[in-house]
Amino acid sequence: MDSATQTIIAYNKNRLALTGKQPTAFINTFGCQANVHDSEKIAGLLREIGYGQAKDEAEAELIVYNTCCVRENAENKLLGHLGEVKKAKATRPELKIALCGCMMQQDTAVEKIRQSYPYVDVIFGTFNLHKLPELLAASIEGKRQTIDIWQSHENIQEDVPVEREHSFKASVNIMFGCDNFCTYCIVPYVRGRERSRKSEDIIKECEALAASGVKEILLLGQNVNSYGAGLDEDINFAQLLRKINEIEGLKRIRFMTSHPKDLSDEMISAIANCDKICNHVHLPVQAGSDKVLEKMNRSYTKHDFLELVRKLRAVSPDIRITTDIIVGFPGETEEDFEDTLDVVRQARFQNAFTFKYSKRTGTPAAIMDEQVPDEVVGRRFTRLLDELTPIVYEISASNIGKVVSVLVEGVNEGDTNLLTGRADDNSIVHFKAATAQIGDIVDVKITGCKTFYLVGEEV
Ligand code: 5AD
Ligand code: SF4
Repeated sequence: MDSATQTIIAYNKNRLALTGKQPTAFINTFGCQANVHDSEKIAGLLREIGYGQAKDEAEAELIVYNTCCVRENAENKLLGHLGEVKKAKATRPELKIALCGCMMQQDTAVEKIRQSYPYVDVIFGTFNLHKLPELLAASIEGKRQTIDIWQSHENIQEDVPVEREHSFKASVNIMFGCDNFCTYCIVPYVRGRERSRKSEDIIKECEALAASGVKEILLLGQNVNSYGAGLDEDINFAQLLRKINEIEGLKRIRFMTSHPKDLSDEMISAIANCDKICNHVHLPVQAGSDKVLEKMNRSYTKHDFLELVRKLRAVSPDIRITTDIIVGFPGETEEDFEDTLDVVRQARFQNAFTFKYSKRTGTPAAIMDEQVPDEVVGRRFTRLLDELTPIVYEISASNIGKVVSVLVEGVNEGDTNLLTGRADDNSIVHFKAATAQIGDIVDVKITGCKTFYLVGEEV
């Protein structure tokens, strides 16, 4: 055990002796699945140095904000929290605040925190979360703001402990970073160059999870379809999927995110042939117009995208496709936007995450001419939802009468007589259980639906 770890463990023991209860930490996570999984690693590290899990910020001695900067509203939300925290610190001097994640990889953001939020104790980034014990120890000893941001990974850290949120499903990183440089996106600047984990390490992790009772694994990467590039071994994502599909005890495989430009025929046939791969693919289209797609640096056309959808459905007729769409990219005209609506009509997405374009300083799009006025973006956004919603409903309703296989994730929040889970095809299902327990995979007969969920009974 290194001296920093000893320092912080001793500090927490001392807190326990003083207060009569174990110090606890609360991790507030913003953003995507990559951040959610990083937070599970942070929780693992905190457990090892003596922190319990707080149920909310009010009872915590340490609050960690794992930040996101992909759109401006995620940043604003963080700043709102920091305002609140200042008041809390005035009455709870023992409270420590740590900030990490994507926003902290931006110099301007760190400078702002340094100047305007001096009561934040520790700041680290996306490349060095394993250093948290050391940084906390330094903060405890020095009692001032400790900042440590790296510009890239030294090596992929394989030995970080993980405190997983669920016992029956788990996320596994297969790669980090992104090399695509879509012109609107900050991710390549804050998550660094694309690096794949060795297949051996991934398989070992998946096997251990399956052996411990995990039924569903979500493979994570910014662009999973380019998995394997740069590794010494000769492997691609389709081959990795086929290996994971062999793991005994594992029932379901999901993955995200697929970039359309790298969704090969080999991948499409792996999706169709591997029995454990769920009947769903998340395939962000972003926009429908070829001109906008080119300005976004997406490397495919509307036709290419629709062709992929056709190929997927040719081999898996019922496959559900979800997507991400950005409205109001610089230079988007009415005609361009009509192309986005046309893709929505033709591709028939099960669901779409829709975003208003958000200018990210440092990206090429931020300095493009013809930024679209807010009111135009707002109107187009509403029209997009008007086009999407009936299709989403129709797809939802097409499940009525079917029996679907559901992984039970919890008790329904609104009606505690019901359980909630996810069907193989990504639908959310609320249902009346017969014998089902959380973590089981059960058959559910679908008796009704709303736009965004199905209702049924265990059979
Ligand atoms: N503005 C709006 N949406 C964005 N996304 C990424 N960057 C931006 C931005 N600057 C969206 C994309 C991506 C999803 C994770 O976030 O649709 O697929
Ligand atoms: Fe951002 Fe494009 Fe990389 Fe996705 S593929 S993280 S949108 S740069």
